[in-house]
Amino acid sequence: MQLINVALRERGYPVYVGSNALDLVAELIPTNAQRVAIITQEAIPWTVHSDRKELTIHINNSESAKSLTVVEDICRKLAIAGFTRADVLLAVGGGVVTDVAGFVAAVYHRGVRFINVATTLLGQVDAAIGGKTGVNLLEGKNLVGAFWQPTAVVCDTDTLATLPPREYRSGLGEVAKYHFLGSVPEAQAANAELPTADEAVVAACIQIKADVVAADEREGNKRAVLNYGHTLAHAIETAGHYNLRHGEAVAVGIAYAAEVANQLGRINAERLAAHYQVLTAYGLPTKLPEGLDSKKLLALFERDKKAIDGLTMVLDGPNGVETVTAVDKAVLAEALNKLR
Ligand SMILES: NC(=O)c1ccc[n+]([C@@H]2O[C@H](COP(=O)([O-])OP(=O)(O)OC[C@H]3O[C@@H](n4cnc5c(N)ncnc54)[C@H](O)[C@@H]3O)[C@@H](O)[C@H]2O)c1
Repeated sequence: MQLINVALRERGYPVYVGSNALDLVAELIPTNAQRVAIITQEAIPWTVHSDRKELTIHINNSESAKSLTVVEDICRKLAIAGFTRADVLLAVGGGVVTDVAGFVAAVYHRGVRFINVATTLLGQVDAAIGGKTGVNLLEGKNLVGAFWQPTAVVCDTDTLATLPPREYRSGLGEVAKYHFLGSVPEAQAANAELPTADEAVVAACIQIKADVVAADEREGNKRAVLNYGHTLAHAIETAGHYNLRHGEAVAVGIAYAAEVANQLGRINAERLAAHYQVLTAYGLPTKLPEGLDSKKLLALFERDKKAIDGLTMVLDGPNGVETVTAVDKAVLAEALNKLR
């Protein structure tokens, strides 16, 4: 078991990573909480227990659960059950559950405490940590949300054993990202089809995310590096190609960011090859899905809500991964061709 601290002073919290970490949940519930609401999905074969009054709320098993309607529904259930600001929410699931439950925690009674119990690889290395919570609108992903930090995060690596392989691979897309933001041990290649991200790998990724969040909680600047590979990933997702899971789209986006950086002379051929090496070792896609028009993708880049000065991207370079503004459109278009 490893303990990583997200060092945010009064909003700081522990992240427990390892086998049997679920056993710790009961003792992480604050003593003055009388009630506990477990927000989860029926498909998730893991749960947690406490010695408090418990209410279990199931949400839809898909991205469609990230909606204001679901937020209202959960808040009403909490109100009917008499939840107060002293009580606690437990989010047990992947990024969909932790994003929705976290947002409910941010707004119910103007803020209640919540604990994330992450059960997907993507949730453990990314979504459950850092306090970004929110839901989607028909107009786009994550357009309504709040920064609201959990009081603790539990990442029981045993829960990953029941993840569908596609979901596991999606998590590996985010793991691949961390290889370019810090130091991550090689994932075990016990199964060449689906390498295992063990406790050491998951903990290394969490440590990188915790350090970035501690340095820039509300994405003033540095936190944007966590969006490495996400400019193209979001465009692929928005273009309607949800046949790629988020982490798979991020993998294609990392290959793209490396191609752009190489064309701009920010990284050499060797560093470009290192990107493809990591992505292919994890069995991740590096090519654009068929039928995606470059013009449409380029137009979507401009709508990316992280754009602050023309076409902004997170790119590797001599100073490591950083935000680069005013990236030349011709370079962006040419790099797309490299992914065909
Ligand atoms: N807040 C953030 O910082 C942040 C960061 C990255 C991604 N996200 C969000 O996370 C979401 C994606 O999260 P995800 O990839 O975890 O997907 P997900 O939450 O949709 O979970 C994937 C599927 O796995 C199932 N599942 C979960 N745990 C399981 C387990 N242990 N065994 C068997 N099945 C299990 C779920 O029911 C679901 O069907 C997106 O909405 C994305 O926007 C948020």
